[in-house]
Amino acid sequence: MHNKPRFTVPRPVTYKLSVKNAGKILKKYRGFLSKKDLGKILSLSLANPGKDLETVTEKFLEKKYSIDKIETLLESANKSYYTHKDIMKKLGISRSRFYFRLNYIKRFVIKKKFEWILKKGGLTKLPHDATDMRRITGLLKNKPLERKILLNPGPVLTSLGVKNALVQNDICHRDEDFEILMKRLKRNSLRIFDADENYSVVFISGSGTAGMEAAISSTIPSDKKILVLANGAFGERLYEIAKLHKLKTVLMRKEWGELFDITEVEDALKADKDIFAIAMNHHETSVGILNPINKVGRLARKYDKMFIVDGISSVGGEPLSVRNDNIDVCITSANKCLHGFSGMNLICVNNRVWKLIENVEPRSFYLDLKKYQKYSTQLNQTPYTPAVAVFFALDQAIRELLEKGMKKRWLRYIELNSILKYELSRLGFQFFTNYDCQSHAILTVKIPEYVDFKQFYSEIKKAGFIIYPCKPPLAEKYFQIANMGELRRGMIYDFIFTVEKTLDKMRKEKARRRK
Ligand SMILES: Cc1ncc(COP(=O)(O)O)c(C=O)c1O
Repeated sequence: MHNKPRFTVPRPVTYKLSVKNAGKILKKYRGFLSKKDLGKILSLSLANPGKDLETVTEKFLEKKYSIDKIETLLESANKSYYTHKDIMKKLGISRSRFYFRLNYIKRFVIKKKFEWILKKGGLTKLPHDATDMRRITGLLKNKPLERKILLNPGPVLTSLGVKNALVQNDICHRDEDFEILMKRLKRNSLRIFDADENYSVVFISGSGTAGMEAAISSTIPSDKKILVLANGAFGERLYEIAKLHKLKTVLMRKEWGELFDITEVEDALKADKDIFAIAMNHHETSVGILNPINKVGRLARKYDKMFIVDGISSVGGEPLSVRNDNIDVCITSANKCLHGFSGMNLICVNNRVWKLIENVEPRSFYLDLKKYQKYSTQLNQTPYTPAVAVFFALDQAIRELLEKGMKKRWLRYIELNSILKYELSRLGFQFFTNYDCQSHAILTVKIPEYVDFKQFYSEIKKAGFIIYPCKPPLAEKYFQIANMGELRRGMIYDFIFTVEKTLDKMRKEKARRRK
């Protein structure tokens, strides 16, 4: 019988790869790549000490599976929505061949997972000090709560760098150390809103709703009106805040997910000269649609109205420009598309607003926007004790975002969202929103008839993923899957496999019960 040579890891001398690390990779990669393949990769790498491990690996995998072509097509499919059939036709391959290759992509998402494993094994350079990162992962391992992949619309998964930034030596918010942090945050935050020197950003500790309340309650003179556009839960929240503060309010209410008619908005502005400001959401998260802030912004400029936008679930994840969209006040929070921790609002304000609201009496003690602006410009501080640790983490999250580039994140969201849409429709799911204006950060998915959502949720949670129930009136029929946060493609595919398995199980259970 022919004896195959057995693979053994040679003793490392000057090689980058040590036996210890090889063992680590082998352990982590088990289940993704066969032992034999891994052996080949390792021996290739050791035979070519000049070449780095990643290049050798990629070359090997590409040669073996030739997945590049399909991956490129799948990526373009994210934009133009190809079906599997289209891709087969384009590649000129049979159905079985296509699924054979696709399975490889899905099972491994080869390059990405390998990159991840290399990073986890500490073989490639980490963006932060590797010892710090190991310490953080070590600490997390000993925590009572298991790590879950969050597919809910915030709080989101944060990077190790952001987690690391959360723990600092304690500082006082009235000390220069805090002011240095605040100055950098103010400067960097302007960039995420695409603002220039005509704008400033203030920071208010609290959840996103605190930011909404500060913006609305601080800006409307008592003899003027606010026009609120609502087509979902968060538009309704803007209205409730205005009502609670006893503002004179004109409400343009649509069914959840229904689009606004711009002519109707213009007619409302023409009809009532007392309207001083317009308020709306950019991303109406409760249904997953993007509202046309650019069109409404143009109207606001034309009729000289203040334009307040809730960008809580879009800033960072979707293109938005306070300058080009004529936004005067834009609210966002740290824990959604910025990938920071919860507990902090960023409110970007056009400097012209301060003059316009000079005489508006505060309606809230804590949420008085003017007070935050005064402390920010004069002292680089906040009027009350802020969530200092969350500030540090936000600073890191924004730096990571700017370092990689905002465009990259938008594209990442488009990619992950399209994979979800594509794969879930393959599994037979339907969606709430079918418009062109669907956001790229969340999907509102119909619960199949045979599925008991409570059971579905807990099965999915058991497998390590958190999904999100819809708010009433959609709660009975729909749920949501968000792709905000530090998510990787592999996690999304793992989630899809879990859904597929869970549905299968539930279908079988139902059939058994029928018998
Ligand atoms: C668009 C939008 N506005 C406001 C909020 C409220 O934010 P928070 O729950 O942090 O108060 C959310 C939360 O999901 C949101 O998506």
